[in-house]
Amino acid sequence: MAAKYLNDLATLVSLCKRRGFIFQSSEIYGGLNSCWDYGPLGAQFKLNVKMSWWEAMTRRADIVGLDAAILMHPQVWKSSGHVDGFSDPLVDCKKCRTRFRQDTAMVDGKVVCPNCGSTEVTEPRNFNLMFKTHMGPVEAEGSVVYLRPETAQGIFVNFENVATSMRKKIPFGIAQIGKSFRNEITPGNFTFRTREFEQMEMQYFVKPGTDMDWFNTWKETRWNYYATTGVKMEKLRFKEHGPGELAHYAKAAFDVQYEFPFGWNELEGIHNRSDFDLREHQKFSGKKLEYFDEAAKEKYLPFVIETAVGCDRLALAILCDAYREEQVAGDEGDTRIVMGFKPRFAPYKAAILPLSKKEPLQEMGMKIRGDLAKSFVVDYDETASIGKRYRRQDEIGTPFCVTVDFESLEDGKVTIRHRDKMSQDRISVDQIKNYLDDKLVNF
Ligand code: GAP
Repeated sequence: MAAKYLNDLATLVSLCKRRGFIFQSSEIYGGLNSCWDYGPLGAQFKLNVKMSWWEAMTRRADIVGLDAAILMHPQVWKSSGHVDGFSDPLVDCKKCRTRFRQDTAMVDGKVVCPNCGSTEVTEPRNFNLMFKTHMGPVEAEGSVVYLRPETAQGIFVNFENVATSMRKKIPFGIAQIGKSFRNEITPGNFTFRTREFEQMEMQYFVKPGTDMDWFNTWKETRWNYYATTGVKMEKLRFKEHGPGELAHYAKAAFDVQYEFPFGWNELEGIHNRSDFDLREHQKFSGKKLEYFDEAAKEKYLPFVIETAVGCDRLALAILCDAYREEQVAGDEGDTRIVMGFKPRFAPYKAAILPLSKKEPLQEMGMKIRGDLAKSFVVDYDETASIGKRYRRQDEIGTPFCVTVDFESLEDGKVTIRHRDKMSQDRISVDQIKNYLDDKLVNF
């Protein structure tokens, strides 16, 4: 079977809408630029993506989780350098009035308008990416708070709380998943760059001097994580940040890039943040954030290795990677679209499909659905022909279809179809759970 993979984003955007993965936000009002809503299947899929990362991080003995508030004391963002330094150079095209980032529009040393190609542009102005709002009923200067532009600061300001309450010894890490907000000048490419997004960040606190070793260890650990996602590894690569590209807090940094249909782009950042953040928070808060290393009998400010991946970006990479179109021979002839997710990411692990929507097949199908739902997220579909129902499930990536037919009433068995091989096994109803337990792991 020759497969065709995704080469344009529009095909995926259309599938995501058609199949309930991702909708444009506020669509009935014409939409809101760069904001997206995850539909029923998208919400489950994204939860599966988050769980995969959360488990990879927090099932280790040396990492604990955290869920900090989005709104933080405004001084946090002054100390972290975001109020002064978290900005992009903004320019306007004098011809067509398009507003864009100067640094992403350089061609042969000149700024070129991405819309009309003109080189006549305004002088760059620094545009701070943080969203501002006000806390309380009075919109005065003193009530300004920011929507966090990264989850990391919630971890830094809780370093002492976590280390003490959890009796953690260095090296150890804190992992967090949560929303971040950036007033991006040029959002786009579907969910790739948006103004509201979710991050999965982990800060690993280490003894100064051991930081570059840990940096390399985390590069390797994160690469190995991607190998478990089922994403094609030839579509991943590391890209080192040159001296001019480093963020204001970083001593060293690598991006993990994925080859999206619109080119190679950042999926994750791995940074050596040195002791920058703890030092700044210690200075401005007046609270001691030093760690006493009992083994070495010394006090120091830990260095931090950070791994930061956008949940929506990883979800987008998995969606792009999973898409394929296949010509199918035999009984199932025709073309089919398959979202070839690893089962752990699939919204449904199995779909129960009775051949008739009348009793007693319906009753048997519903009973199987109810039993399986205690262990797995499953779908139930009794509409349309069985061929059409298989195609629907292929298109949303369901690994197994459980067909209940008239013989099932006699022999108490069902037919289970494998999404990728399209092979079928006849299994006793009381064995379906065991069968799925085994086959989902060894898909
Ligand atoms: N705490 C470090 C930090 O935030 P970053 O490289 O700016 O580093 C980390 O962001 C990750 O967050 C990125 O690799 C990307 O996956 C995701 N991300 C950043 N900005 C985003 C945006 N506007 N839309 C979607 N994801 C974004």
